[in-house]
Amino acid sequence: MQPLKMSIMALLSGLPLFGGTAGASSTLFWGGTIVGFNNDTNSLAVYRNGSILVENDRIAAIHEKTQSKDEAGDGVEVIDVTGQILTPGFIDTHRHGWQTALKTLGSNTSLAEYFGRYSSPASGADFRAEDVYIGQLAGIYEALNAGVTTMVDHAHHTWSNETSWAGLNASAESGARVFWCYAFENTRNAEGPRTVVEQLANFRAMINSEGWKSSATEIGIAYDSWGPRPDVEERGKVMKLATEFDVPVITTHSLGGPWGVTNMPSDLAELDILKGDIPIIFSHASFLSPNDRDLLRQNNHYVSITPESEMHYGHTHPHSYLIQDQAALGVDTHFTFSTDILTQARIWLQSTRYRLFSQVIENWKIPRNTPETVNQAFLLATRNGGLALRRHDLGVLNKGAKADLIVWNARESPALLGWNDPVAAVMLHASVGDILDVMVDGKFVKKGGRLVVEGYDEVRERFIASAKRLQEVWAAKDYPVLEGQWMAGGSEFADTMKVDVVSGQGNGYGELFVE
Ligand SMILES: *[C@@H]1O[C@H](CO)[C@@H](O)[C@H](O)[C@H]1NC(C)=O
Ligand SMILES: *[C@@H]1O[C@H](CO)[C@@H](O)[C@H](O)[C@H]1NC(C)=O
Ligand SMILES: *[C@@H]1O[C@H](CO)[C@@H](O)[C@H](O)[C@H]1NC(C)=O
Ligand SMILES: *[C@@H]1O[C@H](CO)[C@@H](O)[C@H](O)[C@H]1NC(C)=O
Ligand SMILES: *[C@@H]1O[C@H](CO)[C@@H](O)[C@H](O)[C@H]1NC(C)=O
Ligand SMILES: [Zn+2]
Repeated sequence: MQPLKMSIMALLSGLPLFGGTAGASSTLFWGGTIVGFNNDTNSLAVYRNGSILVENDRIAAIHEKTQSKDEAGDGVEVIDVTGQILTPGFIDTHRHGWQTALKTLGSNTSLAEYFGRYSSPASGADFRAEDVYIGQLAGIYEALNAGVTTMVDHAHHTWSNETSWAGLNASAESGARVFWCYAFENTRNAEGPRTVVEQLANFRAMINSEGWKSSATEIGIAYDSWGPRPDVEERGKVMKLATEFDVPVITTHSLGGPWGVTNMPSDLAELDILKGDIPIIFSHASFLSPNDRDLLRQNNHYVSITPESEMHYGHTHPHSYLIQDQAALGVDTHFTFSTDILTQARIWLQSTRYRLFSQVIENWKIPRNTPETVNQAFLLATRNGGLALRRHDLGVLNKGAKADLIVWNARESPALLGWNDPVAAVMLHASVGDILDVMVDGKFVKKGGRLVVEGYDEVRERFIASAKRLQEVWAAKDYPVLEGQWMAGGSEFADTMKVDVVSGQGNGYGELFVE
């Protein structure tokens, strides 16, 4: 796709179709199928042969009918997207970017094993600032390549001032829209314990610094000790900080049932922060109760469903399908599985269908309708992420929204040949490999199928060196012995059934192919 420069006179004579004046950094996506959002009907709106005019960081106009591309002005980069599909970028409402270097080590891990081996407290002594920086950057690039333009990072790499800064710096430099949420938790680094008190001072210095302010990154708060047994004084300090700086989001790991790490809306019911203006994202929220559901709706907070994580580790999501009106999607530990929200949305859509079909089938009845549509899955992956952040300008393509978008290679991809409904094409047929261009905040981060971020070759080299070192460290670590009771809930460990994929002797379970 060659950018074409057009004359300013042509633009002026063509007004008012494109609206607004084309500034120095304007891009016109011309002639594609746009999956937009109609605020009046509160639903997706598809514009065939449409155009999107981006000015600086926002969408200046969307047009249903294509006017001649010759009518764009001087300095407007025209991208001919005839035959292509344009969607908003995906929103990941829960991830831990620092973990990228552990990629492929946790393919068979359970959650209890994860805590003992890969979690933040299990990693603080071995990750240097360089590892956090380069892993965070490489991980964000992986997400951008997959069309994830906004991410809420539960940043529990706050083991030292240096490792904390490293994650923020990488986020700000990445070009992604990162809600980087500083995690407050008593933890350990190579020198010894690291306390919440030290973290509070570190946070203050970081949020008052200037470096990140000119980027698309914002600083939020992550905190996992709301309940059931809070340190009331510590919790009070975290809430005070959140209010003082009016952070854009607070996030927490929420996991009930036998896990007992509750941090549920009901744990916050008596706190002013639940009724306040700061959105709170409850990640996983497995074993949510009807009371928790009501508190989410009354106070407009969201859960982050991370479908693959909750299946991979066994959090499970017994009731999450009942709260999809206050839910968005997330990835979680992308070192163990996919980093892309498209996969999450597809897994979630089909597992919701499976689950709700089963309720009918179990009664010897035949389902008449589908429980969830591709449009709903698409909204979960895009707009609901914006709503979880109380941002109506994220996760949608309409006038005034942030210019965070994807161009899908619908014209040439064998997977998309013959598509008609663009939402179904993306949700059920496309893959990350079909993503041609990705724009964040009005700037291309991927173009023509390749990342166009600065110095990617160097990032790759530095990341591989870091990953190699850490993977050697991890190879020498013992696996935790899971005897007695799991940490929080007093629940006992038990064996899962192993399936057989080999007939005769053995079951094919095997070892990890880790050197
Ligand atoms: C869409 O509606 C929301 C409120 O429901 C509002 O905040 C937002 O500005 C609207 N966007 C547009 C483009 O009108
Ligand atoms: C879109 O443009 C193509 C040619 O590029 C044309 O065949 C088609 O009819 C147009 N569709 C609409 C809805 O205008
Ligand atoms: C960490 O940063 C805070 C705030 O800048 C500072 O007060 C503290 O001394 C630093 N800690 C160390 C160990 O350097
Ligand atoms: C992060 O960036 C700041 C400037 O904003 C710089 O002073 C600091 O050294 C950087 N720290 C790391 C660990 O990259
Ligand atoms: C994963 O594989 C490793 C090595 O084979 C083993 O030690 C570990 O216990 C396995 N984890 C689970 C949860 O099965
Ligand atoms: Zn997590």
